[in-house]
Amino acid sequence: MTQIDALKTDEIQNYEIEHQEEVRRLAGECMVILENDGVLPLQAGTKKIALFGTGARHTIKGGTGSGDVNVRENISIAQGLERAGFKFVTEGWLDQYDRLYADAQEAYAKKLNEFTEKTGKPSMLYAFENPFEEPEQPEITEVDVKEADAAIYVISRNSGEGKDRRAEKGDYYLSDRELQNIRFMTEHYKNCIVLLNVGGVIDLTSLKAIEGVQAIMLVGQTGNMGGYAVADVLTAKTIPSGKLTDTWARSYEDYPSSATFSHRDGNLDDEYYSDGIYVGYRYFDTFGVMPLYCFGYGKSYTEFEMKTMNVTADEKQVQVEVEVTNIGDKYPGKEVVQVYYSAPDGIMEKPTQELARFAKTKLLAPGEKDVVTITFATTDMASFDAYDAAWIMEEGEYTIRVGNSSRNTEAVAVIDLDEQVTTLQLKRLMRDTIAVRELHHMIPIFDIEFDFGVPAIPFRIMLQAENFKKELVEYEVMRRTLMDKRKDEILTLEDVKAGNATLDELTAQLTVEEMAELCVGTERRNGDGNVIGSASSCVPGAAGDTTSSLLETRKVPNLIQADGPAGLRLETPCTAIPIATTLAQSWDMDLIHRMGELVGEEMKQLHVDLWLAPGMNIHRNPLCGRNFEYYSEDPVLTGLCAATETKGVQSQKGKGTTIKHFAGNNQEDNRMFTNAHISERALREIYLKGFEIAVKTAQPYAIMTSYNLINGVHSANNYDMLQNIARDEWGFEGLVMTDWYTSQDTTEMGMVSPSGKYSHSSSVQCIKAGNDLQMPGCQQNVDDIVEAVNEGKEITKADLQRCAKHILSVALKTM
Ligand code: BGC
Repeated sequence: MTQIDALKTDEIQNYEIEHQEEVRRLAGECMVILENDGVLPLQAGTKKIALFGTGARHTIKGGTGSGDVNVRENISIAQGLERAGFKFVTEGWLDQYDRLYADAQEAYAKKLNEFTEKTGKPSMLYAFENPFEEPEQPEITEVDVKEADAAIYVISRNSGEGKDRRAEKGDYYLSDRELQNIRFMTEHYKNCIVLLNVGGVIDLTSLKAIEGVQAIMLVGQTGNMGGYAVADVLTAKTIPSGKLTDTWARSYEDYPSSATFSHRDGNLDDEYYSDGIYVGYRYFDTFGVMPLYCFGYGKSYTEFEMKTMNVTADEKQVQVEVEVTNIGDKYPGKEVVQVYYSAPDGIMEKPTQELARFAKTKLLAPGEKDVVTITFATTDMASFDAYDAAWIMEEGEYTIRVGNSSRNTEAVAVIDLDEQVTTLQLKRLMRDTIAVRELHHMIPIFDIEFDFGVPAIPFRIMLQAENFKKELVEYEVMRRTLMDKRKDEILTLEDVKAGNATLDELTAQLTVEEMAELCVGTERRNGDGNVIGSASSCVPGAAGDTTSSLLETRKVPNLIQADGPAGLRLETPCTAIPIATTLAQSWDMDLIHRMGELVGEEMKQLHVDLWLAPGMNIHRNPLCGRNFEYYSEDPVLTGLCAATETKGVQSQKGKGTTIKHFAGNNQEDNRMFTNAHISERALREIYLKGFEIAVKTAQPYAIMTSYNLINGVHSANNYDMLQNIARDEWGFEGLVMTDWYTSQDTTEMGMVSPSGKYSHSSSVQCIKAGNDLQMPGCQQNVDDIVEAVNEGKEITKADLQRCAKHILSVALKTM
């Protein structure tokens, strides 16, 4: 095996400088202005700032765990503002907090060391369960009050894999001290701004109740240039144009999964998705619950006017043309045009509305206009009928709505379908033994504050069911063993590359042992010490790689894998880009494509083949510890973001993404052993939808399965999901890999189910299901696979050949 020095020099490289400049510019666009009474942007002449809050000097660039990125320098908000020429009048308070922070860090480092010394296990395992907690901040008192032009308070939160957040003060809720300090700030200063340096939803009801908070901006977590990006936005050098990708509720209890989510009901073994398809705004809108800030919401420094110019539709596509004008007179800005549809209730109930597509305008100067054209497939408006296992469009009226947030839309067209159509016939898959009891709305309950009534809808289009084409899927029937037809030669992957052999011919020559080696990652040779996030033997700090054992004999290169999604996670410093939620808040596909490209360029520089990102699980509940690594509560937005980021990465030759965690990984407590009970409809419409979009539109090189079980079967062992759905229905061509250690006994590592109800997934069943690569794998995996094939237990040589071939096909792309 070759040990590659990812970067041999300590000197900052030109590409890093360029990337950081770019992230600085683009990150600002992702920020969401929630409130602004005119105090933003800061007035010219603003010099002295009273700066407070935990995130001021200790700005969080992204979450913890495998989603963290090693960087040369993390520019805090304080540094960003200082370098932009602002002076702080609150150095005393900031210094005081620095000291508390340093002490807390020292104590934490001690705990990590003690853990490793006592158990011999890597400290990251301790950190999963016991993340670093920021110390209580000092009280702001009269001595801190000095004359200033504006006051800024930065609220920060951190979270990461292995542990869900808590609906407690200091986490979901603001702490008493935070509220006290913000209140004090508003009583003693003018021009008070609160910045949210958070990776997910927090309670803002109590913040909004404080009089005198004149602006609230969701900065998010914007990578290592965050401080500069904030300064640019506050001074209008960059114009923020972000929109929320989640519903921010008035109260945590308003989320339909609030009572039972993860640890909330004391049951970590089984999670019943009784909210069904009613996730996020689909719930709030349908059940008449008013959010604090709705999905899609965000202000600008200017105002816009939208006018729908035309709507056309046929059986294939719906097209909406919208003219947007910047009607302000001072600042330029970009607006996001959002198109929603309301499908008719029929045999199946429907959410009040669902996002169809969206588009962002270019930067419009005051008075300037832009026309955006938004197109989507008519059949995207179909719903999944679990009874018949088919996507259907019921007869009736499909209302098309256009606006700049989910709660600020106008009905612009009605598409009238004369009869029910089956758009795609599938078979029943992923069934649970017990049906989940789901929420239902029998009669639509419209929120009185949600005005749906529009007197005259300008466009009316009739569609005939008979003009739709019904599509069918061919599912795999049996796997045939590949026979070696070129016995006299020793074929290599280079032969395949040169066009002198096919992948089938090469695979047919591999022995069961060679294939088992290929299908299990490398760590087993030097198992000790390696852990999640850094099990690679090739590139320091990379998460893992495939075997070197076929390098000489078959010229199969290692596939080197590094984590994300907020940049590349290696020992070498890389550029930290905004976390996925923040990126998605841009609703800007060009921006997200560029971020993908930028990561792809660093993969090239640093010898990484597969990026273990994007993460694309659905924000089902705000407490999921890894929400920051995922985009949104909405599957269409999620799917488009992941597809676009993938296209960006894969525009770099031989570099690929690994979309994860497939699927239903929506909680972190007991993540390896929790069984998610999800109805087939909710799976199809919500939890699998984003993956479907990403696979069909971008063909990522790889998919990573999730740790959890779905309806009683581990995702890693799920033939229905991996073969029938991903490959047969969606046409996925790449490789599937497990999440780390899913298919092995993790007791030694301390990763155990508290109740013991469910155990880890089966290595042999991974092969059967088509989970091609077990990461990082262990010798036992190899032995189990070899034994199973040789003794004809559970799997055949054909099963193993299929997995091996998938890995070879991706390795070929990297050559
Ligand atoms: C995470 C994955 C990550 C892997 C490798 C796991 O703990 O769930 O998202 O890619 O570790 O670091």
